[in-house]
Amino acid sequence: MMGDERKRGKPLVLVASPFQGHMTPMLQLGSVLHSKGFSITLAHTKLNSPDPSNHPEFVFLALSDNFSAIDASANYTKFLEALNNNCKMQLQDHLTRKIEEGKDEMNHTITVIHDNIMYFAEEVASNLNLRSIVLRSCSASYMPAFLALPRLHAEGKLPVQDSMLQELVPELHPLRYKDLPFNDTPTEVATEMLALAERVRNPSAIIWNTMEFLEHSALTQLRQHYQVPIFAIGPLIKMARCPSTSFLEEDTGCISWLDKQAPRSVIYVSLGSLATMDETELTETAWGLAKSKQPFLWVVRPGSVSGSEWIEFLPEGFTEEVRGRGLVLKWAPQKQVLSHSAVGGFWSHCGWNSTLESISEGVPMICQPVMGDQCVNSRYLSYVWRVGLELENLEIKVVESAIRRLLVDEEGQEMRQRAISMKEKAKYSLFKGGSSFNSLKDLVEFTLAR
Ligand code: UDX
Repeated sequence: MMGDERKRGKPLVLVASPFQGHMTPMLQLGSVLHSKGFSITLAHTKLNSPDPSNHPEFVFLALSDNFSAIDASANYTKFLEALNNNCKMQLQDHLTRKIEEGKDEMNHTITVIHDNIMYFAEEVASNLNLRSIVLRSCSASYMPAFLALPRLHAEGKLPVQDSMLQELVPELHPLRYKDLPFNDTPTEVATEMLALAERVRNPSAIIWNTMEFLEHSALTQLRQHYQVPIFAIGPLIKMARCPSTSFLEEDTGCISWLDKQAPRSVIYVSLGSLATMDETELTETAWGLAKSKQPFLWVVRPGSVSGSEWIEFLPEGFTEEVRGRGLVLKWAPQKQVLSHSAVGGFWSHCGWNSTLESISEGVPMICQPVMGDQCVNSRYLSYVWRVGLELENLEIKVVESAIRRLLVDEEGQEMRQRAISMKEKAKYSLFKGGSSFNSLKDLVEFTLAR
């Protein structure tokens, strides 16, 4: 049979997690695979569910998770365990029914593609003799560091001591101890997290939202480690024709404000969907932005400043000082913002989606990692790819200087040139014959070959 005939309507069940940074690439992957002829069911938690009207091409399956919110202060591993336990039977029942319906023999060849933290989906697939593939939404370069954590704990190197933070970690060049994920986490907690990561035991393949040229060395290591095909398919944001994937409402009014700013003059500030800050950090950020004298677009998520609903703690005099030069908003249409010609830099927490989005638009970055893979991403952005500068401290003078270095100084111009050439490379990887193009083709063939 010809490929196109084989794949028409072949069912894929995608299992998404309730985190924004994970949901976005899953929806994008669904759109890409739908455009290749697959029929897509998107299973998601009721907590943070996607808007079905943005994806009329998918069938949606809402799983009862029994959570009303993600409590950032709660124990993360316990949250994930409960989430996985709560969703499991419903997915299993759904897939069993699909198979038993027997109307469509293709249902016996359903492939489950699941977010790595939704490990119950692999157990369900295995119980029903279906194939499962895992989608990773972090950088590939993060994984060698993550996988090295048990060794570093056993050697007594972690939790890291202050005196070691700047030292290079043996066998993990170019990472320093300060770049390691969870480097201050007590051994017992780290052990729990690692055990959880190992719940994904036997994926038949792994999809990574990345590009070969960007993370070739890490991908090579991971292929040796996992011994299953790894499809590096990215940047998904550039491959998918997806409307908004945001849980929060996007304030699109900022685009007309950007239209009035000079080319490459604006610093866009956002720390993603999870990071929080305290009142002091808010104040340092605010005055740093004000003193830089550059226009800015600053996302402060509601509830992200401890003890306040939104921006009640903004320092006195700040609003007057920056009137007409800055905009503070609750959630931005980030893709449009980064592709706007007025934006000259992105001050980011270096979440992997934000990193890929910035690279895809050729926007250089100020890196302020907060947790997890962000520290590794920040090191690669600033030291290896050299399209970002590390924010040493969140202090007014340091912030002011970083913004001016990026937007005004020669150093920033050079980073922009490198960012633009990365944008071009990213674009070529999607063209016919490019690495992400080929990888997608391989994934389609792999999925059909059962
Ligand atoms: C988390 C982790 O931090 C990240 O490192 C991991 O790889 C995925 O999960 P998050 O904090 O959500 O991610 O950051 P990021 O990966 O950058 O994703 C945030 C998404 O929200 C991006 O796609 C970004 O475009 C979007 N966003 C953010 C908006 O659309 N508007 C905003 O105002 C801010």
